[in-house]
Amino acid sequence: MRKNIVAGNWKMNTTVSEGVELAKGISNAVSNGINNAETGVVIAPPFTHLYAVGEQINHDKVCLAAQDCATEEKGAYTGEISVAMLKSIGVKAVILGHSERRTYYGETNETLLKKINLVLKNDMKPIFCIGEVLAQREAGKHFDVVKEQIESVLFTLSADDFKNVIVAYEPVWAIGTGVTASSEQAQEIHAYIRKLISEKYGTEVADNTTILYGGSCKPSNAKELFSQPDVDGGLIGGASLKVEDFMGIVNTF
Ligand code: PGA
Repeated sequence: MRKNIVAGNWKMNTTVSEGVELAKGISNAVSNGINNAETGVVIAPPFTHLYAVGEQINHDKVCLAAQDCATEEKGAYTGEISVAMLKSIGVKAVILGHSERRTYYGETNETLLKKINLVLKNDMKPIFCIGEVLAQREAGKHFDVVKEQIESVLFTLSADDFKNVIVAYEPVWAIGTGVTASSEQAQEIHAYIRKLISEKYGTEVADNTTILYGGSCKPSNAKELFSQPDVDGGLIGGASLKVEDFMGIVNTF
């Protein structure tokens, strides 16, 4: 059966020393058995922090992830960070297609296709984000939006590759706004996403796919959201920046 996962997306927050402290706090809490060992715990610090954080965490208990990667393997791409570089310092997963990257940095399905294939080729796990903006939800287009995002990138993958993908449904109107999708809204669209996966790759693959919810998830609402049958955990922004808040969400399971 699929794994429950709680992943922290630190975004552009903390200095390196603050990040190392945060990571140590999370790693210690998880290693001391303060969470259900079955729940996967992922942290995605900024690029500058990854090496130092990687030196301090228990990699058996905490999965180190990056927030993005380059579209190319190597070469003259000033300012970019390759998947091989990330892999060489113990990074095992990469967040791709976050709405902030799609909106502010013009990420398209074409760039995401290149990135996801590089991540998979390097035996790492993509955490692939999808989700609609408020106007699309209000127009009743959210199902079509996530379908298009899934079909144009994820459904180009072979079933074997797809099995390594973690999907994160993040309604853009809920990210960093304090407005959370209701558990009914989350369940409805997660079930729809799983149905699409099942139609494409079969029920076994669909049943084994972890689908995370993201958008103003915090300790006070995580239980309700995660109790939905098709919500397998969360991608957490703001509430991943404090050990107690993040562990409060991890311990929901
Ligand atoms: P938030 O961010 O929890 O701060 O809403 C979630 C995300 O962007 O992954």
